[in-house]
Amino acid sequence: MAPQPPLLTMSGITKSFPGVRALDGVDLEVQAGEVHCLLGQNGAGKSTLIKVLAGAHQPDGGEITWRGEPVTLGSPIAAMRLGIATIYQELDLIEGLSVAENVFLGHEPTSAGFVVRGSAARTATAELLKRLGHSEIDPSRLVGDLSAAQQQIVSMARALSHEVRLI
Ligand SMILES: Nc1ncnc2c1ncn2[C@@H]1O[C@H](COP(=O)(O)OP(=O)(O)OP(=O)(O)O)[C@@H](O)[C@H]1O
Ligand SMILES: [Mg+2]
Repeated sequence: MAPQPPLLTMSGITKSFPGVRALDGVDLEVQAGEVHCLLGQNGAGKSTLIKVLAGAHQPDGGEITWRGEPVTLGSPIAAMRLGIATIYQELDLIEGLSVAENVFLGHEPTSAGFVVRGSAARTATAELLKRLGHSEIDPSRLVGDLSAAQQQIVSMARALSHEVRLI
């Protein structure tokens, strides 16, 4: 079997803000199935690197290769389309909607081109929550009634509901 290219390669990434070089030639390689932990003191550039990967910041230099192909992550939507999901500390959830509505907000599941609402979205959400080991979270509950920890799980389910390869 031919060796798989790395899922992600970031090489020589640079990024400056007025008066500060936040990233100065950063290399990161991620293989499928790996979990990476980025450590560094305050201001080291961790968030900046993740924002470049999320398409939220454009790097000044360096190269990003995704599944063996050079890519430009021009926007968060572009990154998401490639299968790169980002979960921020401030969650992207709407408290007044149900768990299932939040998971599929903006990309409702479709069948033969028609948007499927209600029970199909709840079933798909229940499957995602089960995959995350949290089948105790009821897809029809309001997100605002969940604990902060449970809301984080819902945000992960939302990320997984896209065809995601890297979180
Ligand atoms: N939008 C911005 N505008 C100007 N400077 C910024 C911006 N974002 C980050 N910086 C600067 O870039 C450097 C790296 O910041 P970054 O937030 O990436 O660090 P970090 O490793 O995430 O730090 P922390 O541990 O505090 O979260 C810092 O000097 C910061 O002040
Ligand atoms: Mg940070």
